[in-house]
Amino acid sequence: MENLVIAIDGPAGAGKSTISKLIAKNLGINYIDTGAMYRAITYKCLEAGIDIADIQSVIDICQSTDVDFVDNCIYLDGTCLNDEIRSLEVSSNVSNVAKIPQVREFLLQKQREIGKRSDVILDGRDVGTHIFPDTRYKFFLNASAEERGRRRYQELIDKGQDLVLADIVEDIKKRDYIDSTREVAPLVKADDAIEVDSTSMSIQEVVKYITDMVRRIGE
Ligand code: CDP
Repeated sequence: MENLVIAIDGPAGAGKSTISKLIAKNLGINYIDTGAMYRAITYKCLEAGIDIADIQSVIDICQSTDVDFVDNCIYLDGTCLNDEIRSLEVSSNVSNVAKIPQVREFLLQKQREIGKRSDVILDGRDVGTHIFPDTRYKFFLNASAEERGRRRYQELIDKGQDLVLADIVEDIKKRDYIDSTREVAPLVKADDAIEVDSTSMSIQEVVKYITDMVRRIGE
């Protein structure tokens, strides 16, 4: 029997990772954060002092990197990374790394390989359109840009980062623009994805709605 693959796509800060982790726990399946893989490559480039505009150097770094996602943790060359990939510096560079076709191709292979290991829920931008286009379980999670900015700001403040709300909202809008206008695998709702606007929904309401839909689709 085919593995269960649930795709959760949507713009920055829509709550995809929080929701996906809870659904994974409820259903007893694995969770894969595809964005963390782009963030890990970006982090490695920045640490190596590479200018992200130097596309060939970014591709070289990417192709000699080992990225994996196991037990809710992103591994970069064998080391588990945490909040260092969530900094505003990584956030403001990641979309320019993610629009490089060779980087996308490299990570696409990894994501498919990891996704095929077990029943999974993956969150990202192109899970339902490119990584697993044949899955029947596709959701597009959205919320207003202001609400998404507010949520991300609160999340980072809770983690002890010192930030300004306007900078977060600007980063989110800028990434949405780059992500949805790039040539390869842009951020777009798959025709057959179920759209969920979470602007005025609680986390538990979204989790329940998606879990119920998954069960219904599977019947
Ligand atoms: O958590 P947040 O929604 O802010 O972003 P993320 O899921 O960590 O993704 C970071 C960035 O990686 C996005 O802004 C995209 O540029 C890129 N990404 C992508 O291109 N394709 C994916 N499947 C996932 C992320």
